[in-house]
Amino acid sequence: MTTAKISFREISKTYPLKDTVFTALDRVSLDIADEEFVTVVGPSGCGKSTLMSMAAGLVEPTGGEVLVDGAPVTGPGPDRGVIFQQYALFPWLTVRKNVEFGLRLAGLAPEERRARAERAIELVGLADFADALPKMLSGGMKQRCAIARAYAVNPRVLLMDEPFGALDALTRVQLQDQLLHTWSQERRTVMFITHDVDEAVYLARRVVVMAARPGRIHKIVDVDLPYPRTEEMRLSPEFSGIRAEVWHSVYHQAPAA
Ligand SMILES: Nc1ncnc2c1ncn2[C@@H]1O[C@H](COP(=O)(O)OP(=O)(O)OP(=O)(O)O)[C@@H](O)[C@H]1O
Ligand SMILES: [Mg+2]
Repeated sequence: MTTAKISFREISKTYPLKDTVFTALDRVSLDIADEEFVTVVGPSGCGKSTLMSMAAGLVEPTGGEVLVDGAPVTGPGPDRGVIFQQYALFPWLTVRKNVEFGLRLAGLAPEERRARAERAIELVGLADFADALPKMLSGGMKQRCAIARAYAVNPRVLLMDEPFGALDALTRVQLQDQLLHTWSQERRTVMFITHDVDEAVYLARRVVVMAARPGRIHKIVDVDLPYPRTEEMRLSPEFSGIRAEVWHSVYHQAPAA
């Protein structure tokens, strides 16, 4: 039997309210295979970020457990890189120094830090801006810098929470291609949350559709399109069919009993 890279087992999360209990997640089970690219969509408040934060080790479940490589998650670790929607760069550090920051924490020697940062910056296409400060970058470039910082640590798992949410459509598509390109070169396990159904289908091998109240998995849609994904594929009838299926299961969910 092969072990899943990430395994959510009967995960529940409840928050006590004044005179009741709010169930943010209700017995969610999901296995993500090693090197798999999974996207998660669902209505606002259905628990996507909460679920991801548990894999990151930032939020504890009230029931069930999250395993990474078969071991329970007890906190954040360098094996899991997290990228949030709000890119948090240090404004006083250059792109290079921002990317090196996490490596400094990991205790790497200066030459090694430099080499790894160089490579990550190149991967995301920011080589010409390595010595620029964040204020000199566009939103998309800042986000690429945040991605480079996560990549440089070389985590086996990337957890991305609406990383392209704040960007314009063109930049978004470019970053999607760049992300897939990088992933094809250095396979990692990716869990990627998005509100954008197109994006969810374009990136993933499987799209996990969640439902709210209580937060749960509604449906999992397989994306039977080969990698590398291309613009032609995005315009193909197969793609449209899968997108329609995901769209329908997100926006026409039967209300919870
Ligand atoms: N600390 C907290 N206390 C009480 N309720 C919380 C807390 N954190 C999250 N919740 C609730 O849990 C539910 C899930 O939140 P979560 O942020 O995971 O949703 P989401 O699917 O990521 O939504 P969005 O698409 O808007 O980002 C929400 O209803 C939220 O109000
Ligand atoms: Mg969220």
